[in-house]
Amino acid sequence: MKSPVRYRRQIPFFYDKSESEIQEDPYERYDPTVIRQSTLHLCDHLWNGYPMQAILDFAKGHLPESPVNIAEIGCSVGRWIAEIAQQYPNANCWGLDYSYQMCRQANDYWTKGTSLQLNLSNRGFSDLISQEGHHIPNLNFGLAKADQLPFEDQSQDLLLHSFLLDRLPKPMAGLKEFLRVLKPNGLMCFATPLNFHQPEHWSTFYPPVKLYHSLSSIFEIIDWKEGIKILEPLDSHGNGIQWNCLGVVARKK
Ligand SMILES: C[S@@+](CC[C@H](N)C(=O)[O-])C[C@H]1O[C@@H](n2cnc3c(N)ncnc32)[C@H](O)[C@@H]1O
Repeated sequence: MKSPVRYRRQIPFFYDKSESEIQEDPYERYDPTVIRQSTLHLCDHLWNGYPMQAILDFAKGHLPESPVNIAEIGCSVGRWIAEIAQQYPNANCWGLDYSYQMCRQANDYWTKGTSLQLNLSNRGFSDLISQEGHHIPNLNFGLAKADQLPFEDQSQDLLLHSFLLDRLPKPMAGLKEFLRVLKPNGLMCFATPLNFHQPEHWSTFYPPVKLYHSLSSIFEIIDWKEGIKILEPLDSHGNGIQWNCLGVVARKK
């Protein structure tokens, strides 16, 4: 694994993100993005279950038996990779995200055991949310860009990402980087709502058959599931955003 270029509050930076890049990145804004992600991924009791469970269930049936190196890219507050790290206590697990604030929140909650304290009164919850953090020993978090991963060629058994591909400025560059770091026969599991932010990505990757063709030029597609519905809850009244996701499991050829 490559060495970090620097650390900030124990978070390794594998990309030297400048102060102006931090200022410009919406995912560095604690409120709304870190709180929104924490509310979505860490507060199951508010929503009667984990709102993203359908994505984890889709991937679950395909996970390898004993992976050694696992990473989630664009992990935000680290829920998926934390579940995977607990499932595979002997694996070396990394959660990588381009946002320092996301990495910090993930690291505090999942590895340092810092308790989560959230005031969601602006969403109609009167009680302060307070829950204990975790000390997952085989899990690390670091700041990295999806198209410049800190891993050696052919080093990873399993890569995960969700709600990332459609946010990347160059989705194919990200996919090629994932291919570079995967071992032969290594697996990539991901989910995306295909909610592209750039008009040219809609024409390149939509309808989904276009993404299928791009992906299958470099990966073997193992599973392809359209119509995975995720309701991102917004408040105590039951309002939410419905995402229509595509789930993919692909193997390095
Ligand atoms: C929409 S959020 C999704 C977070 C989480 N995976 C989920 O499913 O809810 C996108 C995440 O990807 C991160 N991200 C955006 N661009 C990235 C990039 N180029 N490389 C790595 N992470 C990136 C953001 O900081 C943010 O945490």
